Amino acid sequence: MRPFDLDVSWLAACIALDQSSTGGLWGQEQWRRELVDPRRLCIGLADADQLLGIACGWLVVDELHITVLAVDPSHRCLGHGASLLRALLERALLNGATQATLEVDASNDPAIALYERFGFRTAGCRSGYYSNGGDALIKWLNLSSMAGRV
Ligand SMILES: CC(C)(COP(=O)(O)OP(=O)(O)OC[C@H]1O[C@@H](n2cnc3c(N)ncnc32)[C@H](O)[C@@H]1OP(=O)(O)O)[C@@H](O)C(=O)NCCC(=O)NCCS
Repeated sequence: MRPFDLDVSWLAACIALDQSSTGGLWGQEQWRRELVDPRRLCIGLADADQLLGIACGWLVVDELHITVLAVDPSHRCLGHGASLLRALLERALLNGATQATLEVDASNDPAIALYERFGFRTAGCRSGYYSNGGDALIKWLNLSSMAGRV
């Protein structure tokens, strides 16, 4: 399986995966925007027509703002998250990004371990950022440091 660019034909699958893996970050209109706007990157991983994971980000000048990284709960710990993140970062590099940033729940150990494996460093913390009162870590990666890490 190889990561590929998602288009709007995957809209329903993105919404379903978002629901099953994060509880639903975005509604239909937001997902549609993600899939059609050329400054937003959306990468998928699928087994035939079954979407297993997604990685999305917004290109803002020379920065990639990662907005979603999610793998279907029954397909985790198989390397799909790393494969999607690598593909998203490579695509951002090709589009001129030099840095990548994201926010992650400070209690989300699997995601933090994944981001640290790629070399993301914590640059700050937003206290009480999430609706459940949880803190968000702000992480950054210099994309030129990525080569050879993953
Ligand atoms: C975070 C997430 C995308 C990881 O996807 P995954 O396909 O299971 O990850 P991979 O199998 O590619 O694992 C890659 C690395 O991530 C880390 N990791 C993944 N799952 C982990 C776990 N349960 N515990 C600890 N580390 C974990 C490890 O460093 C792992 O590398 P290793 O296999 O060499 O140890 C997945 O757990 C997920 O979808 N979570 C819900 C959505 C979410 O929280 N997204 C992040 C929002 S910022």
